[in-house]
Amino acid sequence: MKAVTQTNIEELTRLFKGKVRDVYEADGNRLLLVATDRISAFDVVFSEGIPEKGQVLTRISNKWFGMINQIPNHLISTTPQRELPFLAHYPELKDRAVLVKKLKRLDVECVARGYLFGSAWKEYQEKEEVCGIQLPPGMKQAERLPRPIFTPATKAASGHDENVSFEECINIVGEEETVRTMKEISLEIYSWAHNLLWAQGIILSDTKFEYGVDEKGKIYLIDEVLTPDSSRFWSIKTYRIGTSPPNYDKQFIRDYLETLDWDKRPPAPPLPQEIIEKTIARYKEIEEIICSI
Ligand SMILES: Nc1ncnc2c1ncn2[C@@H]1O[C@H](COP(=O)(O)OP(=O)(O)OP(=O)(O)O)[C@@H](O)[C@H]1O
Ligand SMILES: [Mg+2]
Repeated sequence: MKAVTQTNIEELTRLFKGKVRDVYEADGNRLLLVATDRISAFDVVFSEGIPEKGQVLTRISNKWFGMINQIPNHLISTTPQRELPFLAHYPELKDRAVLVKKLKRLDVECVARGYLFGSAWKEYQEKEEVCGIQLPPGMKQAERLPRPIFTPATKAASGHDENVSFEECINIVGEEETVRTMKEISLEIYSWAHNLLWAQGIILSDTKFEYGVDEKGKIYLIDEVLTPDSSRFWSIKTYRIGTSPPNYDKQFIRDYLETLDWDKRPPAPPLPQEIIEKTIARYKEIEEIICSI
């Protein structure tokens, strides 16, 4: 199967091309979100795609959106070819495109973490705290936190996202009450999903949510949810405190990149076929686990 790294729907206007998704305007209040097979690491997009990754991500998100009842979500249709019949001319979009409510995005990446890893581990080693949250001394990499924490980050227009404090979030979003809801819901969904995945032998280390509001100020869960692109999943079998556990997310590609002499700036180095195949196999493995919940 060939990777779909570009889309061009002539009948619609493309509003945005993200690292992974192409966003089209369906009409004044609906968007068509198309997950391509593009993959990025360190915020740099590779020229090779990962065949079928877009469908895997879309199916995983759709599955979670169907189960999450803590908050309304942006989904209108997971079969947009019914609402937009001309999509039949684009068979490569099957299982990649969803029709969603067009909302005003709240520009904070809502990260919930149950384990000390990644940027949180780095920050902890410097000052024993993460996003202004004090943590016990002597914790090790990948160790479970006393309780899940909310570690929001700015959605940087370019470059890397930056961790911010709760107070800075209020400045960005404008309303303390909204940020409180974002925090509460993120932690609630994180813990709920953590428990469901635990029963399947998977540890949900951390995950990122995005929210949007409609014209009445009602808050919705948007974008993608609990996918390998937005989350760090580990297998309970291979999890060890003090290590970097093997995972189902992009860490796999990141680890490969660390073996290269690449400064993490564009252009991205070529991805070997072997890495592409191993990556899609991992994505499909976690899809099967999530879709069997
Ligand atoms: N319902 C929605 N209404 C408005 N915007 C949305 C909605 N759902 C998702 N989005 C936005 O659509 C884009 C999806 O593209 P993609 O995930 O590829 O972006 P990205 O590369 O992660 O870029 P960004 O850093 O802006 O998130 C994101 O910017 C996301 O915030
Ligand atoms: Mg995104």
